[in-house]
Amino acid sequence: MGPIRQFVLDLQPSGIGQIAHEGLDDPEVIPLWFGESDLTSPPFVNEAAKRALDEGKTFYNWTRGHLPVREGLLRYHQKQYGIELDPDRVSAPGSTMLTVMITCQCLVEPDDEVILVSPYWPNIRTVVEVLGGRTVDVRLREGPERWWLDLDDVKRAITSRTKAVYVNTPSNPTGWVMSREEQVALLALCRERGLAIISDEVYHRNVFVGQSPAPSFVTLAEPEEPVFVLNGWSKGWAMTGWRLGWMVHPKQLAVPITVLSEVNNTGATAFVQYGGLAALEEGDAFAEEFVARCARNRALAMEILGNHPKLDLLSPEGAFYLFPKLNLPISGLDFARRLLREEKVGTAPGFTFGEGNEQHLRICFALSTSRLEEAFHRIRRLLDRI
Ligand SMILES: Cc1ncc(COP(=O)(O)O)c(C=O)c1O
Repeated sequence: MGPIRQFVLDLQPSGIGQIAHEGLDDPEVIPLWFGESDLTSPPFVNEAAKRALDEGKTFYNWTRGHLPVREGLLRYHQKQYGIELDPDRVSAPGSTMLTVMITCQCLVEPDDEVILVSPYWPNIRTVVEVLGGRTVDVRLREGPERWWLDLDDVKRAITSRTKAVYVNTPSNPTGWVMSREEQVALLALCRERGLAIISDEVYHRNVFVGQSPAPSFVTLAEPEEPVFVLNGWSKGWAMTGWRLGWMVHPKQLAVPITVLSEVNNTGATAFVQYGGLAALEEGDAFAEEFVARCARNRALAMEILGNHPKLDLLSPEGAFYLFPKLNLPISGLDFARRLLREEKVGTAPGFTFGEGNEQHLRICFALSTSRLEEAFHRIRRLLDRI
């Protein structure tokens, strides 16, 4: 293929996409494969974006995010975390996904290693590899009560090529919420070894256990140190289609991130940002109701699936996924395929979330409770049949 990178020619959709492609157009399928609910965005958010359109917010704008939005983010951090952030540390260049890409563009050179706390959301691995880096998995310990990070596992994975550690808390797919103590310990290790932290906190509002928002590296990091806290509007306010996120980064990167935003997408869509601002300013009630709904769904999931002998299922502390291990003679992928074909439920196979998860299955529980109840019973039915 001449000049086209072999790496690019070899790219394949994640395991989530592989299963979804088999049943996306079937209206009978209950879709629990993607990370979103069936709620549309809150009306006051939609209205704010419509108003911005009518007011002519259709031009190029500051690529690091509109000034009113960045100011709104400063107020949001003050309100949610009680901290005053330096304006040079906050950028809203586009989607949360884009903040992951920009962060890795700041850090990863060819052959660098990035430690991924696994199981992880698969896009992070692709981003590192697109940039020529390598990923090293450090798997969370599973149980007996919760998922947890053994810092010695991280220490053992560090080499002279390690640049950064990626953690996602609350976690997709495990629901693990990193405690403040775990964050303090990881930060101390990374400081000692000169490593960056990439903390993906896009589920910061989606917590069932402990404080809300979830404990954040944003309250621990010094303004100049290489800690990147990535966040966004998608998961807290049912805004996955808006493609809007923000990042808190080292102060000295304000100008470089402006340039990186410029060459990635030249800034987030102008009027969309005003919807985001409305969510920050007026979105607490919606975010809380959404978490309450997910908490009810989580209770239902544990009731219907929690003590099934063919599942090892830890109750998730945050986000909105179950990530059970299947005690079955077939893999998570084969189970997901059969579930789709025989019971019309769409899930995501574990292998796509990193090595060691081949027997797992990810089930999103953000849909309406009645649809979920039906889906959980169908899952039980297949479990009973195998
Ligand atoms: C852990 C994690 N990080 C980042 C993203 C990307 O978020 P966004 O859709 O806001 O770009 C997702 C989306 O599923 C996610 O699960």
